[in-house]
Amino acid sequence: MPGSAGRELAQDAAQDESSGHPARRRTDLIIGGGQAMGHVLELIAVAARTEIPVVIQGESGTGKELVARAIHYTGPRAARPFLTMNCGAVPETLMEDELFGHARGAYTGAHADKRGVFEEAEGGSLFLDEIGDLYLSCQVKLLRVLQEHEVRRLGETRNRRVDVRTIAATNRDLMAEMEARRFREDLFHRISVLPIHLPPLRERREDIPLLVGQFLQQFNRELGRTIRAFTPQALDRLKSHAWPGNVRELENRIKQAMVMAKGEVIDLESLDMFSGGAPGAPFPTYRKAKEEFVRSYLVQCLQAVKGNVAAAARLAGKDRKDFYDLMKRHHVDPADYRK
Ligand SMILES: Nc1ncnc2c1ncn2[C@@H]1O[C@H](COP(=O)(O)OP(=O)(O)OP(=O)(O)O)[C@@H](O)[C@H]1O
Ligand SMILES: [Mg+2]
Repeated sequence: MPGSAGRELAQDAAQDESSGHPARRRTDLIIGGGQAMGHVLELIAVAARTEIPVVIQGESGTGKELVARAIHYTGPRAARPFLTMNCGAVPETLMEDELFGHARGAYTGAHADKRGVFEEAEGGSLFLDEIGDLYLSCQVKLLRVLQEHEVRRLGETRNRRVDVRTIAATNRDLMAEMEARRFREDLFHRISVLPIHLPPLRERREDIPLLVGQFLQQFNRELGRTIRAFTPQALDRLKSHAWPGNVRELENRIKQAMVMAKGEVIDLESLDMFSGGAPGAPFPTYRKAKEEFVRSYLVQCLQAVKGNVAAAARLAGKDRKDFYDLMKRHHVDPADYRK
């Protein structure tokens, strides 16, 4: 029903504490009244019903993880585990161990048998996040598991059957990655039977007031505040911003504004989208101003992607090493921005 206001998907569904698996969270609401998100909600319903291989693509902060959780928690595996594997965060040498586990004594330091995430997710879903960052050497091994439904722990000779649904996501353009020979074509075809593309927030500005309303409610509860609304000027400012960090950036911005707000209505001043220098402060030198700008820019990038350095570097159009150097020079610690 494109156009209907603020549809929400399965709020508070599957609060299955008794199963021992983390239940769907109260904040797992997918907000979106426009056509673009309407289409996404339809695809989620198909994916949940059919277990067809899904790859969710979209810029940072567009809701890829939220959609993956929705697919799991509205499907037949809802009472079973939902596990996330961040394919970009584990070093190449440890990836196989994380995915498939190992037998005791498989290598120095392997003191006990260990199950990998595939076995841990038995009966449920495994969210392969940032799959575009998966090393080529691991891509071929993952493909084999997806085809055979079997894993082999490091140091073992027998295979173990696994019944796991996988849902993949990436903020890379997998077509371009394939052309650059960084992503295997056979794996791409295996995972992307149903591609779900999440549009950036700047292409669905009609959803901004709905999202603002939802975050107001949520943070009033969390912060113990009773803020009623944004002024029309503040809302216009939110609607016209470019949102490079998408919904996550909007969410952070609203929370900041609500923490700073004095009254029950948020105006342009408490929104403080483009904060200038404090009145009366001495005029900064060019050098100092540039330093401040770079530091605040790095912080904004990291905030927008919850402290994920690889994603922040991409956002800034820098390579990872340069971004690390900049953070070091400006004394920015990414751990401060991880939730
Ligand atoms: N349509 C939406 N409705 C409500 N909240 C949303 C929506 N999309 C995203 N969010 C919220 O925005 C934040 C970022 O979403 P999520 O972590 O799913 O994004 P992501 O695409 O996985 O980001 P990244 O690429 O950085 O990992 C979350 O707090 C999520 O709840
Ligand atoms: Mg994510």
